[in-house]
Amino acid sequence: MDRVFISGAIHFPMKIAILGTGSLARLYGTLFEADHPLMVGRQLGRYQLIERDNTVSWHVPRFQRWEDPAPGPWQVVLVAVKWPGMPLARQWLERWAQAGTYVVPFLNGMGQEQALIPPLTKSQLSPAITTDAAFRSDDSDHDIWRVSIKDHGTVHLTETGHANEITLKQQAASLNLAWQWHPVDYMLRLRWTKLIANSVINPLSALSGQPNGALLQLPLWRLAEPLCSEAESVAQSLGISVTGTLKWVADLAISTATNRSSMLQDVLSHQPSEIESITGYIVRQAHEAGIAVPTHQAILHLVRLL
Ligand SMILES: NC(=O)c1ccc[n+]([C@@H]2O[C@H](COP(=O)([O-])OP(=O)(O)OC[C@H]3O[C@@H](n4cnc5c(N)ncnc54)[C@H](OP(=O)(O)O)[C@@H]3O)[C@@H](O)[C@H]2O)c1
Repeated sequence: MDRVFISGAIHFPMKIAILGTGSLARLYGTLFEADHPLMVGRQLGRYQLIERDNTVSWHVPRFQRWEDPAPGPWQVVLVAVKWPGMPLARQWLERWAQAGTYVVPFLNGMGQEQALIPPLTKSQLSPAITTDAAFRSDDSDHDIWRVSIKDHGTVHLTETGHANEITLKQQAASLNLAWQWHPVDYMLRLRWTKLIANSVINPLSALSGQPNGALLQLPLWRLAEPLCSEAESVAQSLGISVTGTLKWVADLAISTATNRSSMLQDVLSHQPSEIESITGYIVRQAHEAGIAVPTHQAILHLVRLL
């Protein structure tokens, strides 16, 4: 196996592909640059990464289009598309993932298991959530591909026991990344807590056009309480105990006060939003469990109209 040295330590490159070419894909493409990740998407040129202290670095990705052959074998695949890109990611995995491929989807919202098993098995799929914050700021006039890093956070991944989970763990540790693996039940609670936060902050900011911190001052914020309690009941019906989310969501909106949620950004740039995998997921699960979620239903309807 090839070896490279990073900060004086021996590094064994893993065969890694990243599906997606957006903000998160470019951040992870850069973090794992020593592994020469293959980035897959519609298009991607040389890009610039801008850190919080305004340090700028240039990166030349190894890039292929979705339809190009990518025989691998792949040890690790990170899925960093938005939900409308999921069908292409699924087709790519159907074609190019093997039993030895460990797959980590980073998409907000829920439904990763339903979308990717099959073609993957349960032990191949490690749904992750991240508190990294990366924003695309491509300058189309000057053809500069750019992503700004607002925060280097923590990545929480689901422990599955797959052989290449160890490969990714070792690589993340050798790169000093804050990547933490947790048991399935713990991750389900964490994912539902994040889902509930997203189901409040994202649609309310998209509907009001306001950044996160301003939401608490709006009459619309009165919907936060029923949104949280309805979603907590749905989680409960699935055997997942999540409580006290209203305070947590309010604290999160304050600590990210100046951020414009990804749904507000999608609406402003006339891109399809991820409402179907956030509020839509809660409404579908509620329907199956026979639980009434009128506030989420109303929000889903209103955001679809934007
Ligand atoms: N950025 C963050 O800090 C962050 C943090 C936590 C979670 N997340 C989640 O991570 C996921 C990726 O977010 P991101 O910020 O990287 O988004 P992004 O910058 O908008 O990139 C989205 C990627 O998905 C692709 N895509 C979207 N629609 C597609 C379609 N219909 N067909 C094919 N490809 C499509 C885009 O391709 P094109 O570029 O060709 O359109 C791009 O490669 C989302 O679920 C987001 O909620 C992001």
